[in-house]
Amino acid sequence: MKITVVGAGAVGATCADNIARKKLSEELILLDIKEGFAEGKAMDIMQTSALLGFDTKLKGITNDYAATADSSVVVVTSGLPRKPGMTREELIGTNAGIVKSVTENILKYSPNTIIIVVSNPMDTMNYLTFKTSGLPKQKILGMGGVLDSSRFKYYLSKELECSPSDLNAVVIGGHGDTTMIPLIKHATWNSVPVTNFLTEEQQQKIVADTMVGGATLTKLIGTSAWYAPGAGTAAMVEAIIRDEKKLLSCGVYLEGEYGEDDISLVVPVVLGKNGWEKIVNFELSEQERSAFSKSADAVRAMNQVLKDTRVI
Ligand code: LAC
Repeated sequence: MKITVVGAGAVGATCADNIARKKLSEELILLDIKEGFAEGKAMDIMQTSALLGFDTKLKGITNDYAATADSSVVVVTSGLPRKPGMTREELIGTNAGIVKSVTENILKYSPNTIIIVVSNPMDTMNYLTFKTSGLPKQKILGMGGVLDSSRFKYYLSKELECSPSDLNAVVIGGHGDTTMIPLIKHATWNSVPVTNFLTEEQQQKIVADTMVGGATLTKLIGTSAWYAPGAGTAAMVEAIIRDEKKLLSCGVYLEGEYGEDDISLVVPVVLGKNGWEKIVNFELSEQERSAFSKSADAVRAMNQVLKDTRVI
């Protein structure tokens, strides 16, 4: 079994680190365009194997996609991260070309792989990957929802003073500061609605903090986050490799589900060995439905840029 992570930047390397620690495959490839960079990161991670006790063979590669041949899952983190004050959407011009060429290279050597897209703007990059790969829609997944749901649980747990892992809470919509929809009215603390414990004002603050969770970190660190994005991506890889049938929020191509068509957005899906196996329908309120359709409009406008610039 082989897994590939493309892009050895902070998110890619953290993802590879998590995959290695979880012992998800015998072979793990970390590939980067910058000479020696992936080799160095891989060597650093491998020098933790004696301490952490994993046998995964992680190999760093400079731009030779032949080394990725027959990967079961490929994670794409390539492209620029955002800088403070930037939106994810501003990255579209640079990252679209990169993601398209990475996808073409991956498919030359792993024509039936499952691709997880992390590069931003994630919803549009996921749409681009679906449109250009020719793979079945079940094999293309966007990462944002898993990350955003984890951030949502973080903010909920702080306010409730509870364990984040006792919470059930999902974010749907887009992976953008204004397009993500933390479904607070559906969130529970071990089956008890969190709304039982939080004032309307507290709920609004948690939702607002979650939506700008990435931007808050970017401002503090000076670049985009990596621990939670890396761990979120590895959790998706794990659900696929171990065929866990986990219910996770992921970016997927919609054909009528949630009232949207010809677009990739974040919805709850069951993840297993074939990619996403089922889209799970949430009973949305009128307000949530309208927020979802507004997010779809914003993402569709971004996708149009791909068409206007002839990337697709
Ligand atoms: C974030 C980036 C990975 O939200 O989109 O941190």
